[in-house]
Amino acid sequence: MHQLSTSILAADFNKLGEQIKEVEKAGCQWLHIDVMDGMFVPSISMGMPVIASIRKNSRLFFDVHLMVENPERYVEEFARCGADMITVHVEACNHLDRTIELIHDSGAKAGVALNPATSLTTLDHVMDKVDMVLLMTVNPGFGGQKYIESCTPKIRELRRRINNLEREIDIEVDGGVNDATIETVLEAGANIIVAGSAVFKGDITKNIHMFQERFSKY
Ligand code: DX5
Ligand code: ZN
Repeated sequence: MHQLSTSILAADFNKLGEQIKEVEKAGCQWLHIDVMDGMFVPSISMGMPVIASIRKNSRLFFDVHLMVENPERYVEEFARCGADMITVHVEACNHLDRTIELIHDSGAKAGVALNPATSLTTLDHVMDKVDMVLLMTVNPGFGGQKYIESCTPKIRELRRRINNLEREIDIEVDGGVNDATIETVLEAGANIIVAGSAVFKGDITKNIHMFQERFSKY
């Protein structure tokens, strides 16, 4: 099943509620929420109060991407604020297995994210428990960056590995996905597609429909 996960990092925060309504109306079911701590990544974005506040008016699946050092400190709180999926970076966790357990215990689904230069082998011993793997296709920290082409074989390889498993694990691709790169990531085997600027630049509804149309071929 393919899903678009619209990243609100590119939204107009002055109209955040309205724009989320439009995303929902256009038929998108996932909302990608980028939390940055200014340590794991250079920038600082949003946190608990924003998530708790938009949760009150939205039934979308909240896909929370923690670009945060030692994210285990905040897992329970993000779950309480309304996160449905909590994704942590391999590079930011000292005890990845424990953090995944903590996410599950808090009632959310668990995702694990990899930076472009991080190898898939770092996932070898958690593949029996993760619900989703997020492959970054830009260096995390900012929206609107260019898709890194050398990540494509990595998506393909992860799809191959997952196909050999007994269980389903979603593959989410995040960074630089737009009308020019979407075909590449779908063809490589991603099924959850994050898009920020490609949704919020121009007509939101039209942009979402463009993605959905591309999904229908897979
Ligand atoms: C980047 C974030 C992304 C970002 C993607 O660090 O993790 O989710 O919002 O933005 P676009 O789609 O503009 O590349
Ligand atoms: Zn993200």
